[in-house]
Amino acid sequence: MDDFFKEMQNPGIPPTYKCCVGGIWKDSTSSKTIDVISPIDNSILGRVYQVTHEEIDESIAKAKKAQKEWQKVPIVKRSQMVHLIADWIRQHEVSLTELLIVEIGKTYADAKDEILRSADMIDYFANEALNIKGQELSGEQFPGYDQSKLALIERVPVGVILAIAPFNYPINLSVSKIAPALVTGDAVIFKPPTQGAISDLYLTEIIRRIGIPEGLISTLTGAGSEIGDYLVTHPGIDMITFTGSSQVGKAIAEKAGMIPLQFECGGNNPAIVLTDYDPETTIGEIVKGFCSYAGQRCTAIKYVLGLKPTIDQIILSVVKKTQEYIKMGDPRDKTVTMGPVISEASVADIQRRIDEAVKGGARIVYGGKIQGKMIEPTILENVSSDMDIIKTETFGPIVCFIRVSRIEEAIEIVNKSTYGLQASIFTKDEGAGISVARQLNVGTIQINSKPQRGPDHFPFLGVKGSGVGVQGISYTLESMTRFRPIVLSKLQ
Ligand code: G3H
Repeated sequence: MDDFFKEMQNPGIPPTYKCCVGGIWKDSTSSKTIDVISPIDNSILGRVYQVTHEEIDESIAKAKKAQKEWQKVPIVKRSQMVHLIADWIRQHEVSLTELLIVEIGKTYADAKDEILRSADMIDYFANEALNIKGQELSGEQFPGYDQSKLALIERVPVGVILAIAPFNYPINLSVSKIAPALVTGDAVIFKPPTQGAISDLYLTEIIRRIGIPEGLISTLTGAGSEIGDYLVTHPGIDMITFTGSSQVGKAIAEKAGMIPLQFECGGNNPAIVLTDYDPETTIGEIVKGFCSYAGQRCTAIKYVLGLKPTIDQIILSVVKKTQEYIKMGDPRDKTVTMGPVISEASVADIQRRIDEAVKGGARIVYGGKIQGKMIEPTILENVSSDMDIIKTETFGPIVCFIRVSRIEEAIEIVNKSTYGLQASIFTKDEGAGISVARQLNVGTIQINSKPQRGPDHFPFLGVKGSGVGVQGISYTLESMTRFRPIVLSKLQ
């Protein structure tokens, strides 16, 4: 890494990274650190601090002060400054890509895509923010009132936003929270994931350098189990934006109280294959859907439903395509298409779920072998909808096939799930696809594509255990502002 990032790390191998308390790089007074371990070779990439409650208090107090000044900066200026984050990210594309590969085990193509998509997303946020408008309403439109009552409905920032990001997109899912907050005039308390924290500290330095008031962003590292509750219940936090598991999301929602929440949680997404599916598209999208980033995406496909003859036809083609498409290995090799999963805990969880499914009668059609943190893409059949592997999300490259006797049965299985992020439908008949889509209780339905968040200006939301609120460029911007109606009653 170049001199640009010098200030944030202490020399040493591995380096100890400072935390950004009140907008300033500091060694935490706790002196307690956490090792960030590469999933590729278990080497320690660096150490990050476990910040203290006092450092959280200090950061939130400074954020409040900085936000008051920042909201007065004209939005056109804020937008220009936020564009600079995108410019700096592009400038550091190569080093940030390399960092993502070693820190979270993403393939070269996925890591590079994450960096470039982040820069594009920031530019889009900065442009779109210029369209944020208030409203003017007259009382005369409601019976009993007249023109003497006038509402000036301003859109104002919510204040200090707590942004909690996950390990699987440490740059992208962080900027999807930080960029809209900054451009709409909010301050940010940023809690990065521990795995991904180094990438996020680099991102923080880029953001600090655009010239925002000191303390407008603080990046507070540490285990969620140690500082999570303190952060989410802190009276100085005005909104929480979080991406992570449904279990953690539910726990945060229960503790946070009456503040706006924007949560993207687990997906456990199904794909329904109708009898007239297009073979090439369907097989290709199922394989990418369950294998991309080793199945560690909330939008991954986790189970495929179809009539018995349909599943009988496609299952071996899915195996064949998986063999062609997947090259497992060290993601520093640019030809590798699937790297390791994030941690030993994750490996243990995936192993346990496969074992339990097999014990319950499932059959491994392909894969199932685990070596270190490398999980072979695993295809299971004879799976029933009441097995744990269907009921709860497995963050690994596993897909289950379920044969149903009627498509209505597939719809029932999807709708009884506690998740509701996305679902895919594969069919050549778009009308039939739309008709099934309208019966599914999930956030978004994809016809002839794997589930996915992008394009990033589309609304992205989960129902049931999959989330609260709506993301997507203009929707996120809106969520990070609130109405301030000023009602003028004219004196007669
Ligand atoms: O893991 C959750 C992400 O929001 C998924 O994003 O669909 O672009 O991979 P993606």
